[in-house]
Amino acid sequence: MCGIVGYVGTSNGVPIVLEGLQRLEYRGYDSSGLAVAGSSGLKVHKAKGRVSDLKAALPKRIKGSPAIGHTRWATHGAPTDHNAHPHVDFSGRFAVVHNGIIENAPQIRERLVADGIEPRSETDTELIAHLIGQAAVEHDDPVDALRTALRRVEGAYGLAVLDAQHPDRIVVARLGSPIVLGLGDREMYVASDVGAIVRHTRQVVHLEDGEIALLEPDGFTTSTLDARPVQKVSELVDLDDEQFDLGEHEHFLRKEIGEQPEAVERTLSGRLDERFSTIKLGGLNLEPNELRSFKRVYILGCGSAYYSGEIGAQLIEELARIPATAEAASEFRYRNPVIDPDGLYIAVSQSGETADTLAAVEELTRKGARVLGVINQVGSAIARANNGGVYIHAGPEVSVASSKSFTSTCVAFAMLAVHLGRIRDLSPADGDRLIQALRDLPAKIAAILEQEDAIKEAAEWLAQYDSAMFIGRVRGWPIAREAAQKIKEVAYLHAEAYQSAELKHGPLALICETMPVVAVVPDDELNEKQRSTLHEIKARSGQILAIGHESFPEDLAERTIVVPRTEPELDPILLNIPLQLLAYHAALALDRDIDRPRNLAKSVTVE
Ligand code: F6R
Repeated sequence: MCGIVGYVGTSNGVPIVLEGLQRLEYRGYDSSGLAVAGSSGLKVHKAKGRVSDLKAALPKRIKGSPAIGHTRWATHGAPTDHNAHPHVDFSGRFAVVHNGIIENAPQIRERLVADGIEPRSETDTELIAHLIGQAAVEHDDPVDALRTALRRVEGAYGLAVLDAQHPDRIVVARLGSPIVLGLGDREMYVASDVGAIVRHTRQVVHLEDGEIALLEPDGFTTSTLDARPVQKVSELVDLDDEQFDLGEHEHFLRKEIGEQPEAVERTLSGRLDERFSTIKLGGLNLEPNELRSFKRVYILGCGSAYYSGEIGAQLIEELARIPATAEAASEFRYRNPVIDPDGLYIAVSQSGETADTLAAVEELTRKGARVLGVINQVGSAIARANNGGVYIHAGPEVSVASSKSFTSTCVAFAMLAVHLGRIRDLSPADGDRLIQALRDLPAKIAAILEQEDAIKEAAEWLAQYDSAMFIGRVRGWPIAREAAQKIKEVAYLHAEAYQSAELKHGPLALICETMPVVAVVPDDELNEKQRSTLHEIKARSGQILAIGHESFPEDLAERTIVVPRTEPELDPILLNIPLQLLAYHAALALDRDIDRPRNLAKSVTVE
């Protein structure tokens, strides 16, 4: 969703901010803008569409420092030039970029109008600019003015503000929406996502909720909303600039699907403990006796994170024999859930920013629940709101549609399930069996990726249809859901996911020669039953693409993709890989905007 970049220092901030905005494009946006403060005041430029449209609209000679920029994903007001950020206050002194949502915007607007200030856009951000302008009448200092303005604001924000009267400063604030500062040599950076600035510096400081920072070329100072000074310690981020580049690839989605063998290696790294036939997970912050005491596990996440949670729940039930369920965090938070005092709650999120998942964690924590995170983004809001957890270390995921983070999350759940199992009743022999299978996963994923030509051919076949059915049973069911979502998301092809055995209770009526069926059919204890379903589909002229193991009978499906065997509990991890490539190639065949699917954003920071 929205993104912020800013620079203050001795270089020209304009190209730095523009390049940072391009790094944030993956988050999804519909307009962008930039402001520079100089001796002649503020210069503000905005454009609907891509950052390239903004670049094209900029005067050739624009340059300067400090500069701030923004990519906007419309919430209050349509995606127009007018509503794009930065927004300038009534006095022309302050320019503001903002991520998040101001909940009391209607009341603020009413007050401003009563004070004779007529907002020019439909945004909530412009209102903040005016509040700062009003506060500056009494407090000339921009930090004090921002602090006073924010006292009138309810909602979530990550903010960066330029002050024309101090053209060597940026003031930033955070409440519920990430802000990271980057430290350079006589220069400072700010961004909502470290990926936007990692090319320039890896020395960063994460602002906490309720903190304000003043950035000047020589450094920064931080304080709280109630003016208490805060000392911050910088940290070195372990990110490679290359991870944000396409390299030889045409799309980030394809690049990230291809990176899965290494991503899984990183997820496993240092955690397989052969000596005790278990998995070491250092960040759980729970003693074995505490982990033994939980009677249920509840997993929460959104979209693909939720589906990976369904796989996690199955793994925990199978391996640790603890009843476990997964639920969409977006539903959970609104149904006034009864908190199980004997339950272990787990929040799943790649970005660690998803508003619904964060709100679910906050609700749980408020009610005294024990919450762990399974998270990719180190230090993210959800990671910090939890009591502990497992980082998946998949590396940065730029494509809006998740691939490697899904796989690494499932691997992290498999490790957690073995860990929980081994302090309960999972035998050392089973621990060894699963450790070996986990160790073999990267090579097996690489072998599946080598079948790309056959999968591409299947994808081109699928792309001819308007609609498709994805079916699976038990271990294959979350995979069918994930695959149907992926095909909707990147190929814009209508897809339904159904439990194979449920077909005959209704959707079988849809099966005919124009409704292809993609069936996830591992060679497990349910294989026979699945085959019966496929016979029923064939009998109704359904066309089948089966994803299974080499024992799958050739005559039962028009097309078959075979994945290597692993231990049955881990089958879903491998079965999903060809389905990612299937969605990618269907999208390619249909000429979709694969890395920026319409209407979607990478980090869903609004409800
Ligand atoms: C689908 C996809 C989304 C995310 C969901 C949660 O490909 O990426 O469904 O899984 O928006 O995002 P995170 O994991 O960042 O909380």
